[in-house]
Amino acid sequence: MSIIIAPSVLAADFANLEQDITMVNSSEADWFHIDIMDGVFVPNISFGMPVLKAIQNIAKKPLDVHLMIIDPDRYITTFADLGAEILTVHYEACNHLHRTLQKIKSCGMKAGVALNPHTPIHNLHTIIQDIDLVCLMSVNPGFGGQSFIENTFEKVKELQMLIQKNKTNCLIEIDGGVTDQNASRLISCGADVLVAGSYVFKAKDPQANIRLLKKA
Ligand code: DX5
Ligand code: ZN
Repeated sequence: MSIIIAPSVLAADFANLEQDITMVNSSEADWFHIDIMDGVFVPNISFGMPVLKAIQNIAKKPLDVHLMIIDPDRYITTFADLGAEILTVHYEACNHLHRTLQKIKSCGMKAGVALNPHTPIHNLHTIIQDIDLVCLMSVNPGFGGQSFIENTFEKVKELQMLIQKNKTNCLIEIDGGVTDQNASRLISCGADVLVAGSYVFKAKDPQANIRLLKKA
């Protein structure tokens, strides 16, 4: 399977959002990565439902929605209605993770779990069978444009071993500080999906950078 590239809309130009969404539509990217922040789970607020609705109206690729919010169960049906194909919640934000994942799937979406940089992989041992995608945060969530945390490489390898041991089809997604400098090593460690915000949208030629990630 070739690597999946998911540009993070957080780094797009919100005054010209249509232009940036159209650029991704006609690029080699595979998904749109959508960061939803509540100002409580993370120290930042991104954007909410009306903006996501506007994105959904123009986007021609799957919406990969990353919820950085407390008690995400409150909004699962809302994001299903907004067209999310993958809905990712944070391990650290869920008291009843198994129930949350079942609810996401019962709404027809793929269920993802994100881990903060300090959260060990072994916390997923008893739940990995129920997860469609694990998002490894390679920065502390809340902001785009941060630098990549190097211990992510080891976490990717450990997660890949856990997935293979359990014979599941769970995807490994990396989120934060992804560039052409770390992409190929991430892929060789086992990454399936690379999220990239600044590296794509702040580039002179965003489609060329998407292509570089795709070829990494
Ligand atoms: C961070 C977000 C990331 C972010 C990535 O909290 O989850 O998706 O937008 O942005 P870059 O690629 O600029 O680190
Ligand atoms: Zn994200």
